[in-house]
Amino acid sequence: MSSTRVLSCIQPTGDVHLGSYLGALKNWVSGQHEKDVFHGIVDLHALTVMEEPGVVGQLTVELAAMLFAVGLDPDVATVFAQSHVVEHNQLGWVMECTVSYGELSRMTQFKDKTAKRQQQFISGGLFTYPALQAADILLYDTNEVPIGDDQRQHVEITRDAAIRFNHRFGDTFVIPEAATPAAGGRVMSLQDPTSKMSKSDESGAGCVYLIDDPKAIMKKFKRAVTDSDTGPDAVRYDRENKPGVATLLDINAAITDRTPQQVAEQYEQYGKLKVDTGEAVVETLTPIRERYFELMEDRGEVARLLGAGADKAREVASVTLQRAYDAIGMLPS
Ligand code: TYM
Repeated sequence: MSSTRVLSCIQPTGDVHLGSYLGALKNWVSGQHEKDVFHGIVDLHALTVMEEPGVVGQLTVELAAMLFAVGLDPDVATVFAQSHVVEHNQLGWVMECTVSYGELSRMTQFKDKTAKRQQQFISGGLFTYPALQAADILLYDTNEVPIGDDQRQHVEITRDAAIRFNHRFGDTFVIPEAATPAAGGRVMSLQDPTSKMSKSDESGAGCVYLIDDPKAIMKKFKRAVTDSDTGPDAVRYDRENKPGVATLLDINAAITDRTPQQVAEQYEQYGKLKVDTGEAVVETLTPIRERYFELMEDRGEVARLLGAGADKAREVASVTLQRAYDAIGMLPS
């Protein structure tokens, strides 16, 4: 195994959608045999927006089943729940004291999320969240963080915090790099192609979930928003002026490992592009959905796998936390 260490995480806040799959999970799976990979289900992060009791644990098991269903192999990939590895909270505080108020204020995700939560409770955690994310990454001496484009800024703040800490207290943390896919780094909504595909899509029509059945998937693609252009070059990749078509081309390209321009060359009509893209998505998601429902028949086993993952994660995380405390010069306990 190469010594490249990979870490990336996902929040248990609802069903996984095609954006997360193409932006992140597909790369998590493809890297697992060459690299030393850790993947967290970040239940503590989910608390920034979750208020009902009894929900987050269920969502954590379901998400673990989905991560195994998409292809993470528990024999090589360390999959764990964040709250099972207390070092995340501990280094999270150190990171809160390492990032600045100004840096946190510039996070676009914080601005977007608070804008959507007008008249609703906005937790302090939503603001300090990137510090906990920095801890998630730095605890594992991570070289690479495979993510969608929307998480790039969080990796940047992590790098800045690590560099600042190393400068203050001596070389302690590995400086991580973000890794985003060539296609699929920013999958947009099928109904509003200027917004990213997201679980907060109210009608669900613009968002394809990994557990959607083939009929539902085809319906969402057939109804995808395009434009009224006609003619032989109507299908071309122009994200600014033809966002609906660009969204279909991006998805098709990410699924079939081509560029959106290569895909565009093969089409003259929107209808055919929609159907072929929907079918390619169905072909990819059907085995995932089947494995997911199989795994969900034995939740106990999924929970056991998470327990084993947490043991492995803790072995690495506890060493890094101690190194950070020692570097600062905390009084040994
Ligand atoms: P989360 O749970 O929102 O999303 C999980 C992953 O899916 C990617 N993603 C997308 N990619 C392309 N197109 C989309 N429409 C799309 N929607 C989501 C995200 O970029 C992400 O890679 N803060 C993180 C979780 C996190 C984390 C970490 C990630 C916590 N600690 C440490 C990496 C490393 C988040 O909320 O992701």
